[in-house]
Amino acid sequence: MAGRIPQYFIDDLVARADIVDVVGSAVKLKKSGRNWQGLCPFHSEKSPSFTVSQDKQFYHCFGCGAHGNAIGFLMEHDGLGYVEAIEDLAKQLGMDVPRDENPLEAQKRQVAKKSAETLELAAQFYRNSLQVAEGAQRAQAYLQHRGLQPETIDRFGIGFAPEGWELLKKYLSGQNISEKEQITFGLLVQKEETGRTYDRFRNRIMFPIRDWRGKVIAFGGRVLGDEKPKYLNSPETPVFQKGRELYGLYEAKTAPGQLERLLVVEGYMDVVALAEAGIHYAVATLGTSATTEHMDRLFKVVPEVVFCFDGDKAGKRAAERALENVLPHMIDGRQARFMFLPDGQDPDSLVRANGKSLFEQRIVRAESLSERLFGFLQEGLNPQEPEGKALLTQKAGPFFQKIPAGILRTLLVKKLAEIVGVDTAQLQTQLDRQSLPVKKEAIQSKPADIIPEYAVESISHADNAPEVQLSTSYAYKLLLWLVRCPRIIQKLTEEELQQLKEIIDENKGFFWGKVFKEVMEYLKCMPTATTLSLQAHWYGTEIGRLLDQIALEDVLAEEFIISEFKEWLRSLELKRQQYQRNQRIDELMNKSRSGQRLTKNENEELVMLLNVLANKKSRPEGDTAEVK
Ligand code: UTP
Ligand code: MN
Repeated sequence: MAGRIPQYFIDDLVARADIVDVVGSAVKLKKSGRNWQGLCPFHSEKSPSFTVSQDKQFYHCFGCGAHGNAIGFLMEHDGLGYVEAIEDLAKQLGMDVPRDENPLEAQKRQVAKKSAETLELAAQFYRNSLQVAEGAQRAQAYLQHRGLQPETIDRFGIGFAPEGWELLKKYLSGQNISEKEQITFGLLVQKEETGRTYDRFRNRIMFPIRDWRGKVIAFGGRVLGDEKPKYLNSPETPVFQKGRELYGLYEAKTAPGQLERLLVVEGYMDVVALAEAGIHYAVATLGTSATTEHMDRLFKVVPEVVFCFDGDKAGKRAAERALENVLPHMIDGRQARFMFLPDGQDPDSLVRANGKSLFEQRIVRAESLSERLFGFLQEGLNPQEPEGKALLTQKAGPFFQKIPAGILRTLLVKKLAEIVGVDTAQLQTQLDRQSLPVKKEAIQSKPADIIPEYAVESISHADNAPEVQLSTSYAYKLLLWLVRCPRIIQKLTEEELQQLKEIIDENKGFFWGKVFKEVMEYLKCMPTATTLSLQAHWYGTEIGRLLDQIALEDVLAEEFIISEFKEWLRSLELKRQQYQRNQRIDELMNKSRSGQRLTKNENEELVMLLNVLANKKSRPEGDTAEVK
């Protein structure tokens, strides 16, 4: 890997590659009208809903929603990274990949190279020590006692850190790895007072943690007895962030056979023991509950994820967090399930006691997402009583908001409506109302489908008419650009992204806000989405019709769209600030009018706000920056 690949090359590459060839080498395709069709490689199906468009150089599955261009296909199907997919495609076409060298990139690359070398050498040292070091026999006996055969030990690259303070250090130093590097990658610890350095892992069974392409990025080490701490993990390093990595993912991806689901467990030994028993699809979070980054990784690999928890209270709590984190990722075609183990057992002990098939039966019987969601929501309340029903609806709001639009969401709303005993439309209104912004008085007098005052271009609408032309609003423009060019999201600064999020959040009770929010959430899970995939995802819905309308407008150059987008966002943000100032002025004035005293701070604030207002007014209209 060298520096950055120039964009012109990527564009050229995509233009030259034919998606029908790329997909066709992995999927049997048949011509059907203008398009090609086949069985979707991303979910299992009997009749083909996977379509490849030669005109648009794009694939789309109407069954599971998978979609993308040639590069996207190589990433999703072959599990390649972006750069790897480009390299692969270029190789297929006999093209050389040019690189722009940039000093920062070069430095990053240097770190990556050094880390790979250092950590791989360390892993080799541990593996070798398991055979020959002093104490190796005890380590081998321990692994045997835990039921691991040599093939499994090999597959996971399990090793042994011998007793001693400087064994690894001496070995690595002899291989020209500086102590500084050994510290950087978490292998050496430096005592603050004395500056003395020593091996972090001593007398432990060593589990290498690998990244998605098999490179060792960290270690977990287990004691051989009952000493504390039982497990010691590498600290966070430039190449290792705990909340993102999954132990065993690389091994699962490279195990023989088709990977259809992933099972998320808690510990290293659980993953390894399950593999030993023939269950090759387990991965472990590293001492945290599954984060939303984990979800991203998991669903990139498979459409079905089963979470496994202890049966105790802590397990229930962990399941709750997993439930919350997985909801935003539940686009149609994906499945999440939840499995609880008997008290006092973990996957390792269970599979060793009962064997593969009984364990897999438990997986098959695991609760579905909807069972878990409703089980959790109904806990501690009685859905037979009106009060219980109301409470249930209240509790459901924030969870339902996280689920992206689609059939699953529609069905969940329907199910909730049945339990509560109201009709679906009424419930939907109720759920929407829960997500309205705080300024209640302003909204109750208007239908929920219009846009807030400050988002309307012409502020001369003083008559408060609810009939606002959506197409002239700032908000509509923003939505338009985003739908036309979803990549905008990646080009926004942190600050712009934050402003946008706040604006959307405050307005998710309005139709446009809702559409915006759902599109943003979808893009978070599907960063490579295009206008077409958005249209396909919401096909046949109210949102879909709006997207279709947006997609019909003239095509514009991407840079123009991006700068337009930023401009409209800035304008809307200024409007919002102005609106918030006015709200605050009203609030303070009302307080003072109603006879309450303003505090000193409030007084100062009011004077300041009135000053800002006066300054704005004194400038002629059209001269102000915020009116475009
Ligand atoms: P457990 O304590 O449940 O251990 O920790 P386990 O996986 O059953 O281990 P064995 O069977 O006794 O070998 C579960 C996970 O929590 C993290 C590790 O990732 C471990 O696999 N953990 C636990 C630590 O990081 N440090 C500890 O001291 C203990
Ligand atoms: Mn255990």
